[in-house]
This record gives sequence, C-alpha cells and structure tokens, in this order.
Amino acid sequence: MQYVVGTVAEFEEHRAKIVRLGDRTIGVFRINDEYYALRNYCPHQGAPLCAGKVLPDLTAQDDSQVDVDEKTWFVACPWHGWEYDIRTGQSYFGAHHPPARGYHVSVTAQASAPEVQGRAPGPYVADSYEVRVQDRYVVVDTSRRPDRPR
Ligand code: FES
Repeated sequence: MQYVVGTVAEFEEHRAKIVRLGDRTIGVFRINDEYYALRNYCPHQGAPLCAGKVLPDLTAQDDSQVDVDEKTWFVACPWHGWEYDIRTGQSYFGAHHPPARGYHVSVTAQASAPEVQGRAPGPYVADSYEVRVQDRYVVVDTSRRPDRPR
C-alpha cells in the first residue's frame, strides 16, 4: 500500500516525521536529501523508536578528536539506547556502550548486517519501508522493503 506522507518541504533534514499509516506508525527521515522509513517500534522492547535522537556516526580517536561521518546516521532508541542505522534498520552497539571490539556477536548477525566502521551489529533490526519522492510528494510504500544491505 502506498501513502503520500507530505510534501518535501514538510521534512526537515536529520529529523523524523512520525505518521500513522493504517494500524502502524512510521518515522520518515530525511537524511542528506534521501528519504527513509522505519516502523516506530523498537524490536528490543517496543519503544517508540523514531522519537529518539538522530545522530551522525561519531568516532572518538582520542580525548581531543571526534570524527563525524555525515553519510551514516542513526536513531537512538529513547528507552535503552540501541542505535539503528536509519538506512537499513540494523541495530548497532552505540559509541557509549562497551567497545565493539571483543564483544561476541552471533555469526548470523555479522553475516547479514551491513558494516559500519568501528561498530558491531546488534541482534535487532527495525522494520523499514521503501520511500520515494514523486514530483514534490514523499510516498511510503508499506508493501515494499528496501534491499539490504545498501
Ligand atoms: S526498547 Fe529500544 S532499546 Fe530497548
């Protein structure tokens, strides 16, 4: 099913617009002029995921330098802090969690999750939906899932 969720002008960069589509709520994100949609439901324990903070990938090299990757953006779940790649819905251990290196992750999660430098994939994947811009309208197709990995 396809839904028009607004005009392009209604979407702020690096923010989610939360919309109700049928019996579910979805967060539609505008990230560097690309659009992504995640179900507003954290697969960990059901928090309203898309109400969380939207942040770029930050990597601390040492106490004085933080690198910012503007191509990779996460939404942090407001309840327990799992961070989800907005492009794919894949969860990752956040920068404030124990170091990704040395943490055991199942082979299945490692094999299927797209790589984000310096992060280990987590076990959760939020539902994501295909979004396209048609003329000046943003359209979410809840019957289609984006190809993974991107
Ligand atoms: S409910 Fe989202 S991290 Fe726990």
